Amino acid sequence: MKFFIDTANLDEIAEAKSWGCLAGVTTNPSLYAKTGGKLADFEPHMLKIAELCEGLPVSAESTATTAEGMIEEGKRLAALAPNIVVKLPVCEAGLAACRALADAGVRVNMTLVFSPTQALMAANAGARYISPFVGRFDDIAEDGISQLDNVVTCIKNYDWTGKNVDDTVEIITASVRTPNHVTQAALLGADIATVPMAALKKCLHHPLTDQGLASFEADWQKVVAQA
Ligand code: E4P
Repeated sequence: MKFFIDTANLDEIAEAKSWGCLAGVTTNPSLYAKTGGKLADFEPHMLKIAELCEGLPVSAESTATTAEGMIEEGKRLAALAPNIVVKLPVCEAGLAACRALADAGVRVNMTLVFSPTQALMAANAGARYISPFVGRFDDIAEDGISQLDNVVTCIKNYDWTGKNVDDTVEIITASVRTPNHVTQAALLGADIATVPMAALKKCLHHPLTDQGLASFEADWQKVVAQA
């Protein structure tokens, strides 16, 4: 299971990258809006993220509402940097744009996936990544992890050779709220979890690690004091 960070905040991306275990970044219009970014700065901001994370996939989401618009914006976003992945919503226009972009050699991350049939249709339309959402199911008192389980099983049942530029489909567990979401997603065999900074820190920290570190440090000070 690989870790992506789910944010458009440059400081958070730089910090997560400095830990040495970051494999990619996902953004969406809400996350960009949260940075206070202006419309004219959207593409330069995506480029900054792509440069900061050279070699790692960075999902930049199209806000167009027609297939033609998504194809045009997708090609523009993909041309910003070789590691940009175009993020599209799973709907009629999104599927059509995904097929056209995949045929043009562009990697697409199909987002807002809430069912196995959406995931299968996205993969057949050439999506390189599929992002099933977990937390938003939990928010409405449904079980996001069992929904993810169905998506993972359906996608892993098939060989996606010939469907997209990399001949493989990876599942990005999205809408992650807790370390338990990450653990459960890994147990199911999801390829990636895209995790907001607050939840990433919860994934890293453990009270017994903090306690162990404090006692090692205190005992070492005794050794130092005797020298
Ligand atoms: C997916 O890539 C989305 O950016 C994201 O995971 C959505 O999560 P949310 O439900 O916390 O908005």
